[in-house]
Amino acid sequence: MVNTPTKPEIKAASKETVLTPRFYTTDFQTAASLDLSAQEAELKVMLQEMQADYNRHHFVRDEAFEQSWEHIDGEARQAFIEYLERSCISEFSGFLLFKELSRKLKNRSPLLAEIFQLMARDEARHAGFLNKAMGDFKLSLDLATVTKTRTYTFFPIEWVIYTVYLSEKIGYWRYIIIYRHLEKHPENQFYPIFRYFESWCQDENRHGDIFKALLRSQPQLWNNWKARLWSRFFLLSVFATHTMTVHERAGFYHSLGLNATEFDRQVVYETNETAGRAFPVKLNTEHPKFFPRLHRCSDYNMKLLEIDRSSEPIVVKLIRKLPWITAIVWNLLLVYLIKPIDTEALRGTVR
Ligand SMILES: [Fe+2]
Ligand SMILES: [Fe+2]
Repeated sequence: MVNTPTKPEIKAASKETVLTPRFYTTDFQTAASLDLSAQEAELKVMLQEMQADYNRHHFVRDEAFEQSWEHIDGEARQAFIEYLERSCISEFSGFLLFKELSRKLKNRSPLLAEIFQLMARDEARHAGFLNKAMGDFKLSLDLATVTKTRTYTFFPIEWVIYTVYLSEKIGYWRYIIIYRHLEKHPENQFYPIFRYFESWCQDENRHGDIFKALLRSQPQLWNNWKARLWSRFFLLSVFATHTMTVHERAGFYHSLGLNATEFDRQVVYETNETAGRAFPVKLNTEHPKFFPRLHRCSDYNMKLLEIDRSSEPIVVKLIRKLPWITAIVWNLLLVYLIKPIDTEALRGTVR
């Protein structure tokens, strides 16, 4: 019997929470007036890399996708769909921001405008590929509606540079660690998308390098005490969000044969090491309290989810949640206060 293809159902985007990927907007005037001269040569090299478009033919679905995916069911199916949706939204959020930057900088900063346009090209491919994967599960995200209905968070361009740099690099590590794990354990590769992660993550790596050049072109982002405090803040927020989301979705990582805690630890460790090349500090992830405190936060976050799922009135939920929220903030503050590692000083020694 031939399966008649059914039109995928449009999936309403999941509720926004503190941990869902955000949509950003920024001060485009300031972005246009950034003085890039200190890193111009580097940025021009990156532009050539982007123009080379190494992944031009990469995001093409092969025959491995052409089968029924009904055997992935129950919790594993739910967890995988959530993973696809979250990834799709986060790739798409990158697309929107880069597209807008490219549009607004067109006349005032042509080099950046072109780079952003090519980054938007990559993110559109990534989001599209993920949305097609959702189609295999008879769902699809209506990205046009998502664009209109999501709330956009305003970030000054400096914050955009810190956070996008980190999200590109953490994205790189997430994709490559999953890819390498599945290379060793092909029996856990339950869906073909993971095979695409090796070249895919190179896009994210390049995007991260572009943001590194942007960051290093602005000395005020790394040569003073304020920059060190902000760097610590953004490193910790990205890592804490990662730890909590990975543990929320432990089931998905389990279905890949990965231990969520170990996966999270590896991603955070590697991203922190990489970030040390761009940021004036990196966090001391080897401190004996570093991961235990982050894990405490993710345990408390699970309590919050449990309360959210209950049918009590909102006020009652809020009162019950307050102590857990306080405990998360307190533990994050303690991690924030762990003495970081001065990477500018390390750079000095190497030279
Ligand atoms: Fe991407
Ligand atoms: Fe990216």
